[in-house]
Amino acid sequence: MSFQIKSFQEYKDNYKKSIENPESFWEEIANNFVWKKKWNNVLSWDFSKPEIKWFEGATLNITENCLDRHLETRGDKTAILWEPNDPKEGVIKLTYKELHSKVCAFANVLKNNGVKKGDRVCIYLPMIPELAIATLACARIGAIHSIVFAGFSATALASRINDAQCNVVITSDGSYRGNKTIDLKGIVDDALESTPSIQTSIVYKRTGAAIEMKANRDVWWHEELEKVNDQCEAEEMNAEDMLFILYTSGSTGKPKGMVHTCGGYMVYTAYSFKNVFQYEENDVYWCTADIGWITGHSYILYGPLANGATTIMFEGVPTYPDGGRFWEVVEKHKVNQFYTAPTAIRALEKQPIELVNKYNLSSLKVLGSVGEPINAEAWHWYDDNIGKNNAPIADTWWQTETGGIMISSLAGVTPQKPTFATLPLPGIQPVLMDAEGKEIETTEAEGRLAIKFPWPSIARSVYGDHQRYKDTYFSAYENKYFTGDGALRNKEGQYRITGRVDDVIIVSGHNLGTAPIEDVINEHDKVVESAIVGFPHDIKGNALYAYVILHDGVEGNDTLRLEINSQIADSIGPIAKLDKIQFVSGLPKTRSGKIMRRILRKVAAGEHKSLGDISTLLNPEVVDEIINGVLV
Ligand code: WT7
Repeated sequence: MSFQIKSFQEYKDNYKKSIENPESFWEEIANNFVWKKKWNNVLSWDFSKPEIKWFEGATLNITENCLDRHLETRGDKTAILWEPNDPKEGVIKLTYKELHSKVCAFANVLKNNGVKKGDRVCIYLPMIPELAIATLACARIGAIHSIVFAGFSATALASRINDAQCNVVITSDGSYRGNKTIDLKGIVDDALESTPSIQTSIVYKRTGAAIEMKANRDVWWHEELEKVNDQCEAEEMNAEDMLFILYTSGSTGKPKGMVHTCGGYMVYTAYSFKNVFQYEENDVYWCTADIGWITGHSYILYGPLANGATTIMFEGVPTYPDGGRFWEVVEKHKVNQFYTAPTAIRALEKQPIELVNKYNLSSLKVLGSVGEPINAEAWHWYDDNIGKNNAPIADTWWQTETGGIMISSLAGVTPQKPTFATLPLPGIQPVLMDAEGKEIETTEAEGRLAIKFPWPSIARSVYGDHQRYKDTYFSAYENKYFTGDGALRNKEGQYRITGRVDDVIIVSGHNLGTAPIEDVINEHDKVVESAIVGFPHDIKGNALYAYVILHDGVEGNDTLRLEINSQIADSIGPIAKLDKIQFVSGLPKTRSGKIMRRILRKVAAGEHKSLGDISTLLNPEVVDEIINGVLV
């Protein structure tokens, strides 16, 4: 595709054009794709409604762009290279031809099971090739996929299925993660107790565990495949038809089902993939994320496949069989672009350096980072030991809601700077907002990060709750998308993301809202009230610290801590478990009854000497108690 930017000057020219004339800029890029019908209008938008439409009137199927169109020129090229959890199990290489055939066959399985265009299909699978196949099969027939990360609990799965009213769920008998085997089907069975919309579950045999197949509901993937052929016409989709729903936590209540649509999402993920990672035809690209998160959707599947790339899917964890696994895989498959998260870098940094040095990493040309701000130490460790100061690092800032990378260097093409995501991609117009809600005009500044113009892969809504979409993203500032992040900008115009400014905490790169976790804690019958804050953690970036008020006469002890954490693991998933639980008699509140989280954050971080003025509190006396009881 002819949209690769190859020099800093070219970036500047493209950026300028994308701001001065966004429609013709994106139209030229969109012309690189296969459309069944071209658009009547490139863009119409109104952030006050909010309503955003890209490539209106156009029709396409994203799988034709990710699969069919490569068949002639890249049919025998590896599309997906699968690396299993256990290195002794063989790798699987699916060529574009094979992947196409498997996707079409499974699309027919979906049809046979009653799935129609517009239906929602929940996918709850481990990182096996069938996850990619099932996802693309949905897109093939115009069904909307809702992938739920297979580490989420039954309760979390059920609430996502119910929110989207899915009628089919796709899962496996079990999954492997390091030396653990997980009973995925059991989790799904629990979830399906309370999901009346589900009619069918399709089960892939991965572990061979003895599971129960419920009559008239559960069918085996391999048996269903025997009933179909591998010919399946791609459904003609409007550019603005829904492609998928993906849930992200919010600062309040239930998770938000972010809605992404077909045309703009395809154009932007493909464009950003090519330019950020500077992918060349014979490169092997590896993103270590799970497809259950947006990173996997956009930069394991759609972006790479739209570019005809070879993309690695890794089933395992960074520390199994040992802490050298990532580097072993890099050597084994001669990985050229490697994209991971700061939390993984920090964890691997703690391993003996021989686990890095024993492998040949000379294939690496580009390194990427995503999920949270990368601290200077981790950045330099990555640069020195993995890239050998010879592979540029793209620190990519973006969100589930943005669909694709927004602020990042283009590896080796635009300047990089440790701890700075640096410059916006062409088409992206970031602004910093001050405390009064005004756009800051000076270049060097610090403020809240907003975006003032639409880009093709912006989420279009929160599924079933457009008002929430408006309230969350378009109400803080008039006519701007608010990111929830704070940032500073240096005199070169480069951005450094400083972290969330709302009640979302990024733990190990996972986005966790405090309110849903507090709700779970408060459900415990010994608990009156709770408040969660983040505190700095060596590996996770942030970890969760809970202040919990118990009923009179109840003793706060480790048994209760375990109970609270297992309740959280059951309701949300192990990723939301608390690192520290401090039992307190009260929480610092303002006179209007609002918890002063600022104080709780400082105490948890060990910064109680700089609390500032607390005299306006309703109950300043609890602050001393909290400081004295702080868990270190
Ligand atoms: C939040 C979005 C986008 C894929 C993974 C997370 C934080 C993400 C960076 C980065 C600083 C980052 C932000 C953002 N974040 N990447 N390179 N530097 N912060 O997606 O779960 O939707 O979380 O992750 O706070 O708002 P997500």
